[in-house]
Amino acid sequence: MNDNLEDRLPQNKEIEVSEGVFIKRRTVLTGGLSLIGLAPFINSFRAYAQSTPQGQISFEQFLTEANPLTKSLIGDTSTGGQDNYLHALASVASRLEGLPDPASWNDSTQSFKPGTDLGFTPGGESFTILHWRMEPHTQIRLHRHDYGNVVTLGLSGYNRVENYEIVGEDHDYDPGKFFQVRKTVDQQLRRGDINLVSLDRNYIHGFTAGPDGAHGLDITTRIRPKPEHSTPYLSVRGNAVDEFKQIYQAEWED
Ligand SMILES: [Fe+2]
Repeated sequence: MNDNLEDRLPQNKEIEVSEGVFIKRRTVLTGGLSLIGLAPFINSFRAYAQSTPQGQISFEQFLTEANPLTKSLIGDTSTGGQDNYLHALASVASRLEGLPDPASWNDSTQSFKPGTDLGFTPGGESFTILHWRMEPHTQIRLHRHDYGNVVTLGLSGYNRVENYEIVGEDHDYDPGKFFQVRKTVDQQLRRGDINLVSLDRNYIHGFTAGPDGAHGLDITTRIRPKPEHSTPYLSVRGNAVDEFKQIYQAEWED
């Protein structure tokens, strides 16, 4: 992501703006947040952040801490390295307060119906700051992350987040072929709550907004080249094969 992303969004054309995330521009955009001119304030924010390490931090402080931190950790893409990266980024993100709204909201293409919008706040260097805003009882379908990891942070409302992993050997994304998945997380995401997706853990996730809707962030980081295929969606059969281990039959969908 960069500060000029909004200007590059074409009208009525779906584009990928983050790892596995596609949007369609639907509004006249009015320009993005510029970080030009903030530089003189960065050092004072850094000093404040260092003096209050457990306290809430502004968005500018978040960038000041998270950008160098993630650059130092992104190179280790092992399972443990991804864990370390995600926990470090989440520890800073969880202190974030007063995040600016995105310059625009756009239709998500990951839902079954209208009411799930995406927006961006520029400033991340290794990562993309993606807002999601969901109307009451809307869903973002279960989808796989196979080239980028995610820190999800709840900002308001209640949002049920479910994470799955494939059991046994990985499969091609062939619709109609059934295989088993394990539900690893079933979480009610509230303000300040965190959910983590690495390429090795919890790498399929989906969202269901509660009666008041929900707003939060996906802070995504691409760590592998983008595959040729589109982002696969998962369809899970209702009854568990193994209730205790939360094993289900599932198949990929277009
Ligand atoms: Fe996602």
